[in-house]
Amino acid sequence: MKLFNITLCVTLLMSASIFSQNASTPKLGTDKIDDVISAMTLKEKVYLLVGMGDDAWNNPSEAQKAAMLSGAAGITYDIPRLGITPAVLTDGPAGLRINVTQPFAPHKFYCTAFPTATALAASWNSALVEDVGKAMGDEVLEYGSDVLLAPAINIQRNPLCGRNFEYYSEDPLLAGKLSAAMIRGVQSNGVGTSLKHFAANNIETNRMSINEVISQRALREIYLRGFEIAVKEAQPWTVMSSYNRINGYYTSESPGLLTNILRDEWGFKGMVMTDWGGGKDAVAQMNAGNDMLMPGNAQRAVLIDAVNNKLLNDSVLNQNVYRTLAFIMKMPNFRGYAPSYTPDLAAHAQVAHNAANETMVLLKNDNNALPFAPKVKNVALFGKTSYHYIAGGTGSGAVNYDTLISINGVLAANGYKLLQPLSDIYANFIDTIIANAPRRDKKTAVDFHSELALSQAQINEQVKNSDIALITIGRNAGEGWDRKENDYFLLSDAEKDLIKNVSDAYHAAGKKVIVALNIGSPISVADWRDKPDAVILTWQSGQQGANALVDILKGKVNPSGKLPMTFPMKYEDVPSAATFPGEPADNPVNAFYNEGIYVGYRYYNTFKVPVAYEFGYGLSYTQFQYSDIAVNKADDNITVSVKVKNTGKVAGKEVAELYISAPTNEIEKPAQELKAFAKTNLLKPGESTTLTFTLANRDLASFWTSVSSWVVDKGTYEIRIGSSSNDIRQKATFDVPKTIVVEKAHNVLYPNLPLTELSTRKK
Ligand code: BGC
Repeated sequence: MKLFNITLCVTLLMSASIFSQNASTPKLGTDKIDDVISAMTLKEKVYLLVGMGDDAWNNPSEAQKAAMLSGAAGITYDIPRLGITPAVLTDGPAGLRINVTQPFAPHKFYCTAFPTATALAASWNSALVEDVGKAMGDEVLEYGSDVLLAPAINIQRNPLCGRNFEYYSEDPLLAGKLSAAMIRGVQSNGVGTSLKHFAANNIETNRMSINEVISQRALREIYLRGFEIAVKEAQPWTVMSSYNRINGYYTSESPGLLTNILRDEWGFKGMVMTDWGGGKDAVAQMNAGNDMLMPGNAQRAVLIDAVNNKLLNDSVLNQNVYRTLAFIMKMPNFRGYAPSYTPDLAAHAQVAHNAANETMVLLKNDNNALPFAPKVKNVALFGKTSYHYIAGGTGSGAVNYDTLISINGVLAANGYKLLQPLSDIYANFIDTIIANAPRRDKKTAVDFHSELALSQAQINEQVKNSDIALITIGRNAGEGWDRKENDYFLLSDAEKDLIKNVSDAYHAAGKKVIVALNIGSPISVADWRDKPDAVILTWQSGQQGANALVDILKGKVNPSGKLPMTFPMKYEDVPSAATFPGEPADNPVNAFYNEGIYVGYRYYNTFKVPVAYEFGYGLSYTQFQYSDIAVNKADDNITVSVKVKNTGKVAGKEVAELYISAPTNEIEKPAQELKAFAKTNLLKPGESTTLTFTLANRDLASFWTSVSSWVVDKGTYEIRIGSSSNDIRQKATFDVPKTIVVEKAHNVLYPNLPLTELSTRKK
């Protein structure tokens, strides 16, 4: 009887509790997030904060099975009883990366390969980058993903970094402003972005462990500044911490970086996820404010144990769960969005084409070799990448697009005659490379193969039948490894011979030679650029790159790109050349960023090191005149305007760059720094426009390590507006009578090893 009573009681109690649970189980989206968290078990909380890892494929839930895309980078845990749906995360910076074949639909899921980030940066056009973001985000939405793992904005510190093509610039302002535009564009579709890799992921060698020793000032002014601008101006839904360590800490385990700086100082409202497999200590990651661990699942047991053993505070877990749930609620999958699976790829190809038109940088154009004169009908096309354009780099930044459009095909489609024997030679060369490559390397085998060596006789044969020669030099790279000076930066003997021999033969016949560079990061140009008549930089400008290049060759489009980084005279001139990738060189443990704030043009300008092509450089088929600089100084900002006039014969767009040369009373400064930029609309010959720039005090401030603050030093500031960092056209000055402490910052991220930095001052 007693037993019966107890059993009855327990049964009644259980059914009551089940009943009350059903009646009052909170649901995400209907109830308060805090109430949902209160209803979660420890296991549910931990599983939510740790991605599904291999379980996404081996043991998915019903909802995951329904949402998952083949080729996605990861998916999050779902809890149906609480209305928590999974979120699908997909790469990457040059367009959506998923597999072409999806198990649930018969048609192909091609994505648009937009110009790579470096190429987009060369447009210096925020509105254009935002348009690209809109189109990219539409593919994310319409193919059923939730988050694009992009943009990537690490500073291009050294030309050999394998991921440079995924990044924007050597300058944080340009990277920050343009990536903010990209985030706005993508997120305007109601899908998320993941600003990555936070931070200072400038080295791929030993990327999962390398410890970068960087001064607080260089971090603040160079390596974090672009992220700061993007976060403040565009609020990405997520930020991805990086693989590397900074001053001893994995970035995903660094409270200074993720909590003090990212959230407290910058006001980041979103969720932080690790890079795939980044960091070591899951508990430290949770405590640092790295909410989600991707691709996950390995850390589940560790975190549950840590909470049970009081090594991880429940309140930390709840806070991270809160941010993750707030993130889940924004997802298309949570909203029940039904994707069409048929984004308008034709419209996006047009966006990619228009964008690529503005990415190309004309480096040299002697005697108006470009655009092609009307009499140019027959083109001799040299170089393997003329027949096999490199649309983008390798790794997670690559995109599975439909057809490879190459320069030969586009020239032919535009009515130019190519020389058959020469085309056949290259076609055979390329076919053989692809046939001999292992299956997984077939797509990129041509890019990494050495150039075809042509004999002088083979070259001479082309001269009489062609009006002009076009030579393409190509390079590819990707994540997980850095390139070497010999196999990337320097031209091979075959490439140098090709440029020299073709130039000699064509010039002897009074014909011109054009070189097009299909590259993702600077290579050597100083040792061969005197040979051809013109050099045009096409970057890796996506699937429409070849179309855009031909528009420029024939003069349909006037080039308006400018360099987002410096092309040095030689690799040894790069300020990080001696320390890249790190120490010891063959298997680096530490990387000492001893060039400090002197990265890119900040170094070349300050230390007067000559360069091949300076930051911000790029020619046009027309000329622009700058005049009427006007400065208006208020207490907490300054407005500058300048008139730009097209004084040439064809319509064109001009990028105006505003640099500041600051006083050096208290701390040293680079000779000048980019503080604003603007691109004109298409100006007709004779047409002019006035560009206006506004700078706040914070934009003028430097990071004073001694007081951990952003400070505007007193003294006279020079404003320099120009067509490049060396081609300054208008100047004005203004005075700051008293030093202004603009913002106090946390004293975090100090170097864990001695660092002797480059300085203009004698120590
Ligand atoms: C890359 C990230 C990428 C992730 C997911 C990592 O190896 O570093 O950029 O988003 O993989 O594919």
